[in-house]
Amino acid sequence: MKLNRRQMLAGSAASLWLPRLAEAAAGAGGMQVIEPRAAEHQLAPSDYPATRIWGYDGMAPGPEMRIAQGERLTRRLRNGLDQPTSIHWHGIRIDNAMDGVPGLTQEAVAPGASFDYDFALPDAGTYWYHAHAQSVEQVGRGLYGALIVTEPEPLDIDAEHVLILDDWRLQDDAQLAGDWGAPHDNSHGGRMGNFIATNATFDLALPVEQNARLRLRLINAANARIFPLALKGLEGWIVALDGMPLASPEAVGEDFVLGPGQRADLLVDVVAEEGEEAYLVRFDRDAAAAQVSFPVTGRAALSRRPAPAPLPPNPGQELPDLASVRALDMPIEGGAMGRLGSAMYEGAETQFRDLVGAGQFWALGGAAGLPKTPFASAARGETLRIRMENQTVFPHAMHLHGMHFREVLSGGALGPMRDTLLVAGQETGEIVFEARNPGKWLIHCHMLGHAASGMVQWIEVT
Ligand code: C2O
Ligand code: CU
Repeated sequence: MKLNRRQMLAGSAASLWLPRLAEAAAGAGGMQVIEPRAAEHQLAPSDYPATRIWGYDGMAPGPEMRIAQGERLTRRLRNGLDQPTSIHWHGIRIDNAMDGVPGLTQEAVAPGASFDYDFALPDAGTYWYHAHAQSVEQVGRGLYGALIVTEPEPLDIDAEHVLILDDWRLQDDAQLAGDWGAPHDNSHGGRMGNFIATNATFDLALPVEQNARLRLRLINAANARIFPLALKGLEGWIVALDGMPLASPEAVGEDFVLGPGQRADLLVDVVAEEGEEAYLVRFDRDAAAAQVSFPVTGRAALSRRPAPAPLPPNPGQELPDLASVRALDMPIEGGAMGRLGSAMYEGAETQFRDLVGAGQFWALGGAAGLPKTPFASAARGETLRIRMENQTVFPHAMHLHGMHFREVLSGGALGPMRDTLLVAGQETGEIVFEARNPGKWLIHCHMLGHAASGMVQWIEVT
């Protein structure tokens, strides 16, 4: 028998062989599997049939992952769908190879195949994971879940609730409408649903007691809907946005909205008395369910706590150095009622008419669809300032992978750290960040139909 090189190494130097054995053992025995697959879920009220969804481990939302800051997350994605998929860990300052972007950081995982995700969680906060292939349909059918990274010290609260907001487009038979990626949705505001459910539950009600303090971790998993939120019977503070603690808690105002992909951590005190209403209100008039209610069942304590202290900051939350920034322009163009002369598409300057023929309605930074070359290459540690002039009439939820940024506010002040910025129609959003995380990072609209029809770019950090 002729030994191949690996067998020779194994025979002659056992120590070289050991790491491979260790790897194989962890893969076979140790790694927890997560499987996206078709399932049924009672989404609509009980007098309707169950809805056929796609869920991680068959659940909507997928299983909550809750891990202590500084630990690693390891999961084997086993694709139980009949189309390729991947998982993106939204908002995590992640190792680029684990970012889950087919065509940029990994190959899409074929039906029946597996991919191992294994990465560190450097920052505490409210994050989420979701499919990142055919996202309009895969996320729209329910492929998402919460990823909670806990702070070292528990907070002084009475209860915590993770609330994943989504709107689903249901037909009369309570089944999901199959018009995924319809050109009218893609070229307008994206795929809006007609049925709002929180944690895939209609009319979610969470019993509370007066004077209790709750931590609400809000995640907007919708394809395109911006949720306006307000509190009734509750008094609340925003303590973190997109996972990152605010320097000081901010009272929840009337104009508080959550765009697709965004998260907010609230601390709320129940001020309503037993029998009074307490709601997290959403103002959508066309929605079948418009609120999460908190029925007050009694009194937790005689009086309320004092206003909350800030959460402990995550590492790397210091302000970027604005003295030496590279300024870049990344215009947002196109859409219905918009103007788009031409854009780069598949490496060539293409007229709008031909772009529409190819199902592309938007351009980001002069390109429609994921370009072969990055929008910008940054040296590690370089500070980038990106100006996104929204020349369209629609709002966009601009998400950067792998790193948080700060919004440059009017007057030059810097906003809180975020990973997704809402830019209103015909407004300009500007972000600044230190490019510290090496790799290829997507930047795209989280209105998923917009990303699928053009609004996607990437930057490289070397
Ligand atoms: Cu949550 Cu590329 O997205
Ligand atoms: Cu958009």
